[in-house]
Order: sequence, then C-alpha cells, then structure tokens
Amino acid sequence: PPGTSGTTALQRLPGAIIIGVRKGGTRALLEMLNLHPDVEVAKTEIHYFNADENFRKGLDWYRAQMPLTLPDQLTVEKTPGYFTAPPAPKRIWAMNPAMKLLLIVRDPAERLVSDYTQVLHNRIQQNKPYQPLEDLLLSQGHINPNYKALQRSFYYQHLARWLELFPREQIHIVDGEALIQNPFPELQKAETFLELAPQIKPDNFYFNVTKGFYCMLSAGHDKCLDESKGRPHAPLSNIAFQKLCRYLRVPNQIFFRMVGHRFNWC
Ligand code: A3P
Repeated sequence: PPGTSGTTALQRLPGAIIIGVRKGGTRALLEMLNLHPDVEVAKTEIHYFNADENFRKGLDWYRAQMPLTLPDQLTVEKTPGYFTAPPAPKRIWAMNPAMKLLLIVRDPAERLVSDYTQVLHNRIQQNKPYQPLEDLLLSQGHINPNYKALQRSFYYQHLARWLELFPREQIHIVDGEALIQNPFPELQKAETFLELAPQIKPDNFYFNVTKGFYCMLSAGHDKCLDESKGRPHAPLSNIAFQKLCRYLRVPNQIFFRMVGHRFNWC
C-alpha cells in the first residue's frame, strides 16, 4: 500500500558481492560488514553464479536466498568460488553491471596451505584418506602446476577475467593479512567503497587471546568466527614452501601490477 514501501522488509538482490578468494578471510569480512546497521548479509554461501545447477534455477531463486532488508539497506553475499569460476563475471555483469565487488586476498602460498587444510578436514570428517600436501604440490621435486589449489592461487589469471568486464574501481581489494592484524582500518575502507555512512567503530573489535584473532562486539553480543577459521595449517616442509614461494613470485608480480598495489607476500 502507498506510504508503507519505505518500511517494507523484502528480499532484494545484492548490491555488493564478496567474490573471493577462497580462504582469504571471506567469512570474517562478511561478518564484520554485517556489524553495519545498513548491511544485511546472506548467512550461507549461495553458489549461484559458479554452479550451473543453481544458476539454472534463475534470478527469483537467487533473490529468495537473500536476507530481508529495508529499501535503504545493502544486501551482501559471499561465495569465494565466484572468483575462480570462468562464467561468474559475465553472469554477474548481466544481472547488474554496476555491482560492487569485494576481493579479499592473502599471501597465495599461505592461501594454498589453508585451502589444502580445509579439504583435509572435510576428508577426515567423511572418514576418507587424503594425501599429504607435499605429494600434491610436488612432482619429482618440482612444483606440480596441475594442483588445483595452486591454480586457485594464480590470482592474476582469475582477476583478468573480471577486468575484461568490470572497471578496476568497481573491485575493492581487501588485504586479508591486514584484516587479521587490525580489522577496523580495512572495514573503514570497505565502508567508503560501499558508500556507507561510517558506522563501524574500533570498539566493535577486540583481540581474543584464546582465539588468537579479533572477535566482534555489537549491541552486547560477542562473536568470534567458528573453529574452522584460524586453525593450524597442515605441515609442509620448509624446502617445499620455499619452492612454492619461488614459483609464485612472477604470478604475484603480475597481480601487483594489475591491481596497482604491492603486497608483502613471500
Ligand atoms: P586460516 O584458517 O588458514 O587461518 P575464509 O573465511 O575465506 O575461509 O578464510 C578463512 C581465514 O580467515 C582463516 O584462515 C583466518 O586466517 C582468516 N581470518 C581473518 N580474520 C579472522 C578472524 N577475525 N577470526 C578468524 N579467522 C580470521
């Protein structure tokens, strides 16, 4: 009815999407953005633009996965699988060429070990065996370029597909290591990018000594990410890690040039 639309809670398409990187800190970024009163987030990963079986369900299905929002609120979803999925950029562009994209990056060597550790934990839960990381990463002592988790760490290759469609200014890059060290400055930058009023405050965060990470405080609620976030990494020999770092040097340089920023990666 007329006059009530300003207060009607509806499910709306996102105005911003966290597209990756897998194990970059995507959950932390989403939950921290959710501290903002004008932001509502999809609680689970939607996997719409990367998974054909979901994409076939259409835009009404996608919208139905979103939280209720008021007209002036921003909906945000995160699916780290989008970043590396070849059809995702064109599908998002087709839905909304003005979509704001957030990409949280992390040292791609650390990311790979974290990625392996996640898969290992999933296998353990399913009572399935899994090879040691070194067996997947190295073949006859050399880096195996076919290892999927390594390919996901070639950030420039994936970013190039997004930049074919989206202008650089429409992709905000969050420094995942900086977010771990001190979340507030990264959240301030994200607020600016998202054109949100500065509402997130330094005292929304406190360092939890037991967790070893920052946790969130808001309206008397205390929230840390679950134990799958910030867990010990699977072992990898120093020699193998150094080979990985050396292998990633050139891909990292290309990425730095592409984004116009250098990161302190191995
Ligand atoms: P590790 O588990 O390798 O340490 P994602 O949510 O994309 O899967 O990313 C998980 C990573 O988020 C974790 O990787 C962790 O380092 C990082 N992270 C960043 N801020 C965090 C926080 N405040 N609490 C827990 N993990 C955090």
